[in-house]
Amino acid sequence: MQTNRRTWLKQSAVALAGLGLSPDLFANENKITAAPGDMIWLNSNENAYGPSPLARKAIMEHYLRSNRYPDDYIPLLKKKIADHWSVAVENILLGAGSSDIIGLACQHVAKTKGHIITAEPSYRVWNNQATTFGLSFKRIPLNDDKKTDLPKMVSNIDGETRMIYFCNPNNPTGTFADVNQLNDHTISAAEKTFVFIDEAYTEYAELPTLASIAIKNPNIVVAKTFSKVYGLAGARVGYAIAHPDTIKSLSSYQPWSDAGVSVVSSAAAMSSLDDKDFVKQCRENAKAAREMCYAAFKELSLDYIPSSTNFILFNIDKIKKDLAKGMERKNIYVQHREHFGSRWCRVSMGTIEEMQQFVAALKEIAA
Ligand SMILES: Cc1ncc(COP(=O)(O)O)c(C=O)c1O
Repeated sequence: MQTNRRTWLKQSAVALAGLGLSPDLFANENKITAAPGDMIWLNSNENAYGPSPLARKAIMEHYLRSNRYPDDYIPLLKKKIADHWSVAVENILLGAGSSDIIGLACQHVAKTKGHIITAEPSYRVWNNQATTFGLSFKRIPLNDDKKTDLPKMVSNIDGETRMIYFCNPNNPTGTFADVNQLNDHTISAAEKTFVFIDEAYTEYAELPTLASIAIKNPNIVVAKTFSKVYGLAGARVGYAIAHPDTIKSLSSYQPWSDAGVSVVSSAAAMSSLDDKDFVKQCRENAKAAREMCYAAFKELSLDYIPSSTNFILFNIDKIKKDLAKGMERKNIYVQHREHFGSRWCRVSMGTIEEMQQFVAALKEIAA
């Protein structure tokens, strides 16, 4: 996570403690923020509207159970997730976010050293951990449409390949590969290596899951998270959907099965799954926010990659100033990126009001 964010959090915690207040006193029904209205976080693809109303209620109702281990909650959450995807409880493994699941998969495949095939650019936060486990990377550029090049990735599998990582939709581009093609390439890749499918943003893009092939094939894992459309990034709940044998193997790297999820986070996750109106509303708001950004990019003649998710990658070669720094001065946090030999900015979709402020700041800085 970004240093500026940590520093800010520390400072505001100290300030609030000095006033005898805790940050959650500032939470209200529509917006959760530790300090009223002053920071706009558009750099981690979180859901600015979350947790959902039902999840908030569940958190308040269950936090007093935090003196107990979550043993009563975990089976309920697993059953709820299993029913949600029409799979068995034996197909589910919980972790502290889907990052945890990616880490378990890396440990699993690192028993014999080799490489992971991934797209370039794609989600990288876990790459250092994989390197620590002794794995290296073969990075396959996206195709001309800035989508995952499925045939090229699969044709690059060789005797040293330990895993192939498909992020669909892809972070940071927000593009997605056709799910039928992903399905077919996954099946053929799984004949030769372990396949990891990261579905962190499928709910935004309304893409079907590949869970049905994962539960049948021990070489395929689908990872999902409550951190994105469900608005629970801070609660840390993610899970794997896989064949029962694969679930057992992955869980052997945890201190105990399904470790990492708390009483409060399980209660919140269960209620989030029930909050279908919230998910729909967040998806629609992300779409409206994207449209607002596209209009601004067009007005400023900035190239952008049309996205299916809650973030957009847009080109900033034409902006002479340091955009991320300029935004930061206005308390707006975005990510500066270098891809395809040029400069880009990845902006996450905040609330509509936050995006209006982002657009106004962008116009000012780009002028
Ligand atoms: C593609 C992708 N996968 C996984 C994650 C990890 O999310 P978490 O560990 O919060 O579930 C992220 C977070 O940004 C992501 O973008």
